[in-house]
Amino acid sequence: MQSKLIFVTGGLGFIGKHFVKRCLDMGYFVTNVDIVNYAADRFANEKFKTYNNYRHIEEDIANLSHLPESDFIVNFAAESHVDNSISDSRQFCHSNILGVQRLLELSRAKAASDAPHFIQISTDEVYGDIVQGRHAESSALRPSNPYSATKAAADMLVIGWARTYGIRYNIVRMTNNYGPNQYPEKLIPKSVMRLRRGLPALMHGNGSYIRSWLHVKDSVEAILTIMVKGESNTVYNVHGDCELSNIDVLRKIASILDVPEKDAFVQIPDRVGQDVRYSLDDNRLRALGWNPALDFDQELKNIAVEDDFRRFL
Ligand SMILES: NC(=O)c1ccc[n+]([C@@H]2O[C@H](COP(=O)([O-])OP(=O)(O)OC[C@H]3O[C@@H](n4cnc5c(N)ncnc54)[C@H](O)[C@@H]3O)[C@@H](O)[C@H]2O)c1
Repeated sequence: MQSKLIFVTGGLGFIGKHFVKRCLDMGYFVTNVDIVNYAADRFANEKFKTYNNYRHIEEDIANLSHLPESDFIVNFAAESHVDNSISDSRQFCHSNILGVQRLLELSRAKAASDAPHFIQISTDEVYGDIVQGRHAESSALRPSNPYSATKAAADMLVIGWARTYGIRYNIVRMTNNYGPNQYPEKLIPKSVMRLRRGLPALMHGNGSYIRSWLHVKDSVEAILTIMVKGESNTVYNVHGDCELSNIDVLRKIASILDVPEKDAFVQIPDRVGQDVRYSLDDNRLRALGWNPALDFDQELKNIAVEDDFRRFL
C-alpha cells in the first residue's frame, strides 16, 4: 500500500492502538478519533503525538460533523465488554450502532470518487455460538447478548448503506484478541492482575466455555492484508489457531505465575446467555496469504510476566 491517509476511530483502545502504531511506523498519516473512554490508553496517545504523521481528535463518532480527506476509515470505536452490555446496553447502542450510522452518513455524503473505503471491525460473536464446526462468513447472524447484537446491527448497517449508496466496505470478524496492554476487564489481563496481587482469578461458571485466541499483532496484519488485497464489499473472518476453554487459560496463567491451582481461581455466577464456543472458518482470508504468526503460550508468558497495567490505574 502506498502512503495513505487512514481515518481511524477508537485508535486508543486495545486493538486500535496496535493498528495505529503499525500505520504510523509505515508512514501512513493517521487521524484518530477517540472519545477517550475508560478503556482508552492515554499513554499510547502521548507516544503517538511524537509522530508528525499523527493527529488525535477527541470526539464521539456518533456526533462527528466532518470526515477529513481519507483513503480508508477503519472503525474500531465501540463499547466492547459483554458484561457491561448486560448491565446497561444504552452506550452500546449509541456507540456501536448510532456511531456507525454517523460514519456511514458522512461517507456517503462524499462524492463516490472521494469516499473512503469503510473497514468495519466486527466480531465472531455476531454469529452466536457453535458447538461443533465453524461459522463461515455466510452463516446467519444470531447474537446472544446486547454487545454482540449491537455489533451485528452495525454489520447490517454497513451492508445496507453499501447497497443503497454505493459505499465500498469490508467487514472484519475477529475472534478474541489478546496481547500487551489490554484494559484489565477482559479475561487474560484481569486474571493476571488479580493473581499478581495474590487474589484468585474470577471464573464464570465452570470455565468450560471455549474461545479462540488471536494475538492483537496478528489481527493488525489481518486487517492490513484485507485493506491491500481484500475483495471490496466482502466479509472476512479472522480466526486464531488456539481454541481453549477459559479454565485452561486460567491454568496456564497460574502456572506461569507459580500459583497452585487450588488458589488460582474462584467460580462466580455464569454470564447470562453465555456462549458455549466460538469458532470461525477463515479460509477466505488465508487465501490472501495471511496466517497467525504468534504463539499463544509464549505471548501469554510475556503478558503475565511483563505487562505493565499502571497505564490504566
Ligand atoms: N477485544 C477483542 O477481543 C475483540 C474481538 C473482536 C472484535 N473486537 C472489536 O474490535 C474493536 C476494538 O475492540 P477493543 O478491544 O480494542 O476495544 P476497547 O474497548 O479496548 O477500545 C475501544 C476504544 O473506542 C473508543 N470509543 C468508544 N466509543 C466511542 C465513541 N462513541 N466515539 C469515539 N471513540 C469511542 C474508546 O475510547 C476506546 O479507546 C471493537 O469494535 C470490538 O467490537 C474486539
